[in-house]
Amino acid sequence: MNKRPLPIIVGNWKTTPATLAEALKFIKQLDAKCVASKKKLPKKAYYLAVPDIFIPFLADISKRGYIGSQNVSGVAPGQTTGATIPSQLVSGGADFTLIGHSEVRARGETAEDRSHKLALSLQGKMTTVLCVGEETRDKEGKYLGVLEADIKKSLSLVTRSLFENLIIAYEPVWAIGGKTAATPQECFEVVIALRRALANIAGIDYAKKVHVLYGGTVTEDNARTFIQDGGVDGLLIGRASQDVAAFSNIIKNCHGA
Ligand code: PGA
Repeated sequence: MNKRPLPIIVGNWKTTPATLAEALKFIKQLDAKCVASKKKLPKKAYYLAVPDIFIPFLADISKRGYIGSQNVSGVAPGQTTGATIPSQLVSGGADFTLIGHSEVRARGETAEDRSHKLALSLQGKMTTVLCVGEETRDKEGKYLGVLEADIKKSLSLVTRSLFENLIIAYEPVWAIGGKTAATPQECFEVVIALRRALANIAGIDYAKKVHVLYGGTVTEDNARTFIQDGGVDGLLIGRASQDVAAFSNIIKNCHGA
């Protein structure tokens, strides 16, 4: 896992853009900005979680990033209508996937669902970003215990040897899609708690090296502060990844931060 170039900058397009033509144009412009960057960027400088239908087309033209999905189905292969399983996404060009985004959880995804999804995607050797985050905070810090229990349940069907391809994204739900991000200090404290939780699940060596991201109202202005002071290895970015200028500036600002 340490072979991934850091920081890991992941965009989440959600249900944008409206058309494939716009998506292709975005990737061409983004790659051109990466090529023109005065700062030397790694060959693959970004990850973009896009609508599934766009994956093969974007994976085909993207030279400077990894293209992935925003969710997978955890159902057994075969007779289930309307589901896309990880091996199908990989064969269509997906390099990675998000699992457990709060907007997916809000539509009814359970920890058991997540565990099936994680098991399938990690068995398929797909880099998998598990999103976790509290809805609200309490002064006593009980939410940290809730996050630990959530990670434990979500990983219950995953064998330890598959954890190498797992990335954890800390996304406080109260900071997603709003105006106020967590502070780097607030992020730092939770990242320590998440690593402690992962040490209990998978051992201290794993907990020290697993890559952890921050997401929730990341902007051009605050992105770098999370890398520098928030204790994370990268970012998961919604709105600012849907604007080619903002996303490319974040990529350039954060690499070498
Ligand atoms: P935001 O979204 O950056 O627009 O807050 C983050 C996310 O949903 O992952």
